[in-house]
Amino acid sequence: MDDIPVMEGMLYVKVFDSPVAHGKIVNLDFVAAEQMENIVKIFSYKDVPGENQIGGIIPDEPLLADHEVHFRGQPVLLIVAENEDAAEEACKRIKIEIDPLPVITDPREAFIQGKLLSPSRKFEMGDTKNAFSNCVHIFEGQAVSGGQEQLYLETQGAYAYPTEHDSVKIFSSTQGPTQVQRTVARVLGVGMNKVEVDVPRLGGGFGGKEDQASAWGAMAAMVAWKLKRPAKCIPHRMEDMRMTGKRNPYSSDYKIGFDADLKIMAYEAVFYQNGGAAADLSPAILERTLFHATNSYHIPHVMITAHSCKTNLPPNTAFRGFGGPQGMFVIESAIDHAAKALQVHKDTIQRKNMMDNGDEFPYGQIVTECQSKHCWDEVMERYEVGAAKKEIENFNQQNHFYKKGLSLMPVCFGISFTNTMMNQARALVHVYSDGTVAVSTGAVEMGQGVNSKMLQVAANCFGISHSKIKLETTNTTRVANTSPSAASSTADLNGKALLDACNQVKERLFAFIKTQLAANEDAVVDIKEEVVFINNEASAFNWKSLVQQAFMKRVNLSAKGHYATPVINFDKTTEKGHPFAYHVYGTALTMVTVDCIRGTYDIDAVKVVHDFGSSMNRAVDLGQCEGGIVQGIGWMTMEEVIYNDEGKLLSNALSTYKIPDIYAVPQILDIQFLNTDGNELAIFRSKAVGEPPLMYGIGAYFAIRNAVLAFNPSSPIGYDAPITPEKVLMALYPHTSK
Ligand code: MTE
Ligand code: HPA
Ligand code: MOS
Repeated sequence: MDDIPVMEGMLYVKVFDSPVAHGKIVNLDFVAAEQMENIVKIFSYKDVPGENQIGGIIPDEPLLADHEVHFRGQPVLLIVAENEDAAEEACKRIKIEIDPLPVITDPREAFIQGKLLSPSRKFEMGDTKNAFSNCVHIFEGQAVSGGQEQLYLETQGAYAYPTEHDSVKIFSSTQGPTQVQRTVARVLGVGMNKVEVDVPRLGGGFGGKEDQASAWGAMAAMVAWKLKRPAKCIPHRMEDMRMTGKRNPYSSDYKIGFDADLKIMAYEAVFYQNGGAAADLSPAILERTLFHATNSYHIPHVMITAHSCKTNLPPNTAFRGFGGPQGMFVIESAIDHAAKALQVHKDTIQRKNMMDNGDEFPYGQIVTECQSKHCWDEVMERYEVGAAKKEIENFNQQNHFYKKGLSLMPVCFGISFTNTMMNQARALVHVYSDGTVAVSTGAVEMGQGVNSKMLQVAANCFGISHSKIKLETTNTTRVANTSPSAASSTADLNGKALLDACNQVKERLFAFIKTQLAANEDAVVDIKEEVVFINNEASAFNWKSLVQQAFMKRVNLSAKGHYATPVINFDKTTEKGHPFAYHVYGTALTMVTVDCIRGTYDIDAVKVVHDFGSSMNRAVDLGQCEGGIVQGIGWMTMEEVIYNDEGKLLSNALSTYKIPDIYAVPQILDIQFLNTDGNELAIFRSKAVGEPPLMYGIGAYFAIRNAVLAFNPSSPIGYDAPITPEKVLMALYPHTSK
């Protein structure tokens, strides 16, 4: 946001947020604050010109609190000032009196009180009740996973200014330009055509800006539109951490049953999702938890239930994996529990139950092009897991105060927005008369490298150099009705739409050149390195002269492309269908060493075989894989989002919220490309890579847990992530840690 040149007279917008997690506002006095020098105006919910509503899936979230507050950090007022210092001063003069109401921070507690954000969901296959009665071994337990702060390097924010015809233009740090546009239109009470959203690129999103960027866009836009002056609203880091939602914490129950041969016959799970005070994206996240609840395993009898629970915390939201990791953590815990109780290696159970082509997911889709066993076996062989296990056993026998642990983590992740309707995209291509090209898509660059991939698509289709192509900003006036850049699907959806647009122009150019050269109808035209070939022979034309002459003959050199993923469907009434274009597979081997005096640990190695399909950009894909793994390790081992019972965020800064740094990166991070044919629904058969690798990080949890048990086999350690050094220490010495 701060790279964008701003206009003269720009106003600074600061949010005054609720100091209490739940209560009735009985008195709110900002008269004195509003009269201070350099304060232009203070906005309350009464000043919202349209609807005071920003809820995306469910309309349950006001932009500015009206009579009640539902979480600490909820925006109440907007202080509009000539400069930041004045806004800070005015903030201190605002008096708010709140009659407190009971605060709930725990999802199970909310569930007991009947506080749900959306209807509960249930996926069923086979008959678990009957299956359990035939099981030889049954294990039940609880698994808990914590929240995770997106911690994008660039905080949320927006810059807006009024434009002609009562309109407004907004630069937003958002993954979803259309979502911001829609929200602003609603809040202003104008049509979407009066709201232009422009996104050059983000300093990271990680899901945190899929939905929650809209509030900041609406705040800046409302001020700019009403006061007819440019306005900027960008929270500081601690404000951002306090006011915005994070990955949904989950508390879950599992029940798993086996036959004598250790085949999983039945699995039941109940997920209690901590949604926070408003639905936000939680209902969609809940759905993906259900989709990934059996991870890479084929289980004939399944019953999984999920509840989205309303608590008095900031509305939780998307974070890389979108509920998938939370679902996978529970089945991995259940299998781990069984392995420990039966005294067998967990990987024996994992491999024995791995799904394969022809198996059915609990949601009805049939497994195809399955690479689960392929990746797994490749890891076992390439990384000599058998020998590694022996080495670890030897090490653990010889060392008392250091223990090593190992784990295997398979991943199967579905690619497509689970909401079928969202799987569409558009692109706009202009070929200028000098042969240079401008490309617009709905894709937002946030560090994941989608711009590089879009350039590749256009350059490859036209057979021209990257240097001839310019990628425009993501803008709702050029490309309308975009889905957010999310669900790892951005390159697939926008890339396919772009390919459609480029092909349209190319076909017109090819038809033109055939008439020009009086070539046969079925002559094969091609452009390679900007030279035009006819029937594999270089012609006198190059890209530039072709374009110039086509223009002279009035050929249309622009096109709008559209793509909607074929095949996919899902019926929410039966909870069955074919929601995913394809799946991404892989397996990670993780090895760790725990310091059993201090409770600290090192991740010695993460070694992965990952199904990239036919990677179109190995550097970008490798970067996504490495980054995802480290972020997953952070979630599982060190990042601990802590709210107190009053709903106050205690881990509210980087001094109290620890994310992985360079020292936390595994000593060895080896990623092997499983080159497969990919899938034709993936752009250039190069599979989506944004989210799936994050779930390899779950392996670190189980490796550390195994090392703890190597030191203290009777440790009462449960399944409670993240497994921080504090928790490790207490699990090593449970009797002394009172
Ligand atoms: N990588 C970087 N550097 N920054 C990000 O914000 N977001 C992740 C992932 N990788 C993110 C990232 C998330 S949550 C998703 S859904 C995908 O990128 C989105 O981009 P894609 O659809 O192009 O993979
Ligand atoms: N993944 C990520 N973001 C989303 C999805 C999804 O499946 N659905 C809606 N937003
Ligand atoms: Mo990613 S959580 O789908 O933005």
